[in-house]
Amino acid sequence: LRVLFVASEAYPLVKTGGLGDVSYALPNALRDLEVDIRLLLPGYPEVLKQLSLIEVHEDIRLYPLREPIRLLAGIMPGGVTPVYVVEYSRLYDRRGGPYQDEFGHDWSDNALRFGMLSKVAALFGTHNLSFKPQIIHCNDWQTGLVPAFLTFNSNPRALTLMSIHNIAYQGVFGPEVVGLFGLPPESFNMFGLEYHGQVSFLKAGLYYADWITTVSPTYAQNIQTPGYGYGLEGLLAQRQHQLTGILNGIDTDAWNPQTDSYLVSHFNSENLAGKARNTQLLRTKLGLSSQKQLPLMGLITRLTEQKGLDLLVPIIPEIIKKGAQLVILGSGDKNLEKHLQQLADSYAENMSVYFGYNEELAHQIEAGANIFLMPSKFEPCGLNQMYSMRYGTIPIVRRTGGLADTVIDATPENIENQTATGFVFEDEEPRELLYCIQRALRTFRDKTVWRMLQINGMNRDFSWRKSAQEYVSLYQKLLNH
Ligand code: ADP
Ligand code: GLC
Repeated sequence: LRVLFVASEAYPLVKTGGLGDVSYALPNALRDLEVDIRLLLPGYPEVLKQLSLIEVHEDIRLYPLREPIRLLAGIMPGGVTPVYVVEYSRLYDRRGGPYQDEFGHDWSDNALRFGMLSKVAALFGTHNLSFKPQIIHCNDWQTGLVPAFLTFNSNPRALTLMSIHNIAYQGVFGPEVVGLFGLPPESFNMFGLEYHGQVSFLKAGLYYADWITTVSPTYAQNIQTPGYGYGLEGLLAQRQHQLTGILNGIDTDAWNPQTDSYLVSHFNSENLAGKARNTQLLRTKLGLSSQKQLPLMGLITRLTEQKGLDLLVPIIPEIIKKGAQLVILGSGDKNLEKHLQQLADSYAENMSVYFGYNEELAHQIEAGANIFLMPSKFEPCGLNQMYSMRYGTIPIVRRTGGLADTVIDATPENIENQTATGFVFEDEEPRELLYCIQRALRTFRDKTVWRMLQINGMNRDFSWRKSAQEYVSLYQKLLNH
């Protein structure tokens, strides 16, 4: 089974969120299942610098670029997955993030940058390069044109699978994109890649792909409804028989409380003493009071509307008053950062914020916090709730998307039958979140029940093995059709 996995980011080279984690861990898990899966990434500076690469194709000429593209190849860190890199310095080799400049503005040529990534993937898919994948596995809007390019090519081609990690980002550009990439004018149609007079990369992917997946079963249902589909709910409902939700796994080596190299003190479900030491160290590092053993709540996130911080911010004073501590690691919305900073200044002994991206602190929060907050408005899968459970940190989540599929609420029945792993609330209301936090804080005082929640979570299998097997079955089903 030969598969090309195209993505716009991959840990540890370049990562802005969970897509980066998945692009690293899923191909590794699929290679364990004997799939010859290889990655295709843009040649960002971090990618060129961190990999040792050789040239495999030197002179790829693709409309509308003037200069030839070079295709390089290497092996991903970790030594498992082969990776191809599209080198075209004018498009990818620049300072800033993969999608935005240093000031947080989208690169103005993103259509060209990711359209070309997709075009190179399609070239693999028409078997014009040395690796001839049977399936191209596309991820999010940045790769949405791959299925379109392949549909409008007249040669035998690879099949396409479009994975949605987040439907809120769609890659919408002006209609000139059709001509720019030499796509046929008839594709600019409601039954095609047109979306309200514009071109939507994601819609193109969803319309033309042979199959669609998303990263949890509940999100697969969510996105067929107006509240969650961001305008694509109709198309997805039409294609519901070719839409599968496959829950993400986590990288259980990178996120292992027994070996995590960011931690001074290790622990496991049989011996949680090391966790308490992490809590102490974290408090000291963040300058939080350690006079009383107050429950410490953590949150690690991109600061965007998706993550439900508007439910949390109004109740922060109340939470602190109730005798909890809070640490937030995140970056994004500048106004929100300012607001959170003011709150942290007012409650310096019990609240700490860190703005920016910090892998080490993320691991230390997962290990040190007692409770982890994810009040998301929507959450395709979410990885942090799974990292939390693995680290004996009890998640509080809204019942949506992958959060609903991974956290079992501590209702009296679920405590009784020993399945509970966290706390779940329904409505997008600050008060609902507050009640849920109060419920968690009450339970925190009952050491026996708390320990049971921790052990239940720590013993769950969140590895990629099962999900990777589901992808293999899906690849096979596609090929056998
Ligand atoms: P999303 O992809 O929507 O951002 P996920 O929960 O799937 O949400 O994945 C987020 C990933 O990014 C996790 O691995 C999380 O630890 C990481 N992350 C998010 N923000 C930060 C940050 N500021 N510093 C370090 N890691 C972060
Ligand atoms: C997205 C989603 C997140 C998911 C991740 C990986 O960024 O917001 O919920 O876990 O992709 O699939």
